[in-house]
Amino acid sequence: MTPMEQFKRECTAFFDELNAAEQRPLVFGEGPADHPVLMLIGEAPGEQEALQGRPFVGKAGKNLDAFLETLGLKREEIYLSNVVKVRPSKLSPAGRVVNRPPSKEEKALFLPWLMREIAIVRPDAIVTLGNVALQAFIDDVVGNRHGRWSQAVIHATPEPAFTLPLFALYHPASILYNGSLKSTYANDLQTLAHTLSVRTNGENDI
Ligand code: URA
Repeated sequence: MTPMEQFKRECTAFFDELNAAEQRPLVFGEGPADHPVLMLIGEAPGEQEALQGRPFVGKAGKNLDAFLETLGLKREEIYLSNVVKVRPSKLSPAGRVVNRPPSKEEKALFLPWLMREIAIVRPDAIVTLGNVALQAFIDDVVGNRHGRWSQAVIHATPEPAFTLPLFALYHPASILYNGSLKSTYANDLQTLAHTLSVRTNGENDI
């Protein structure tokens, strides 16, 4: 069994036991788990992700296409995951099941699993989308950190902690609610594309 298969098996067993009465499907990360150039980390699966059991396949998948195009990467070249691996949902006043932000408890429960996942994948760098993903690593808001590199400490006990470069982006969904962020997001993506192309040309400035 590969370390990733082992990880999925243990994570599934943990959440099966915890949520025996309320079975929500886990949506695991997807992509090359062997030192990819990037690991993209979102907040949590939405409706389509939960239905299809894959990250970034709903509306977020469309945003992902633009992200990949700007960076000159293919979906298969990066590892995609989320902090919380079940869909946080609630009933709307109209009685529909709708997304909600992940709770503090959900984030705390999934954080050690995310750390372990990163320690297995060992990407060259992490890109976080939005506050939930950023705050899994750094106690700050994306408004202060977007468009530049920070250092993330990865602590997957019992392994020794290690650091990875982290590039913070706004969550693409926030652009839908706040149009003025659109050009900020586009500029940040250009900055990221630039550093990645510098790196692939042999220099390393992150
Ligand atoms: N889909 C995901 O998988 N993650 C997000 O953060 C948003 C949509």
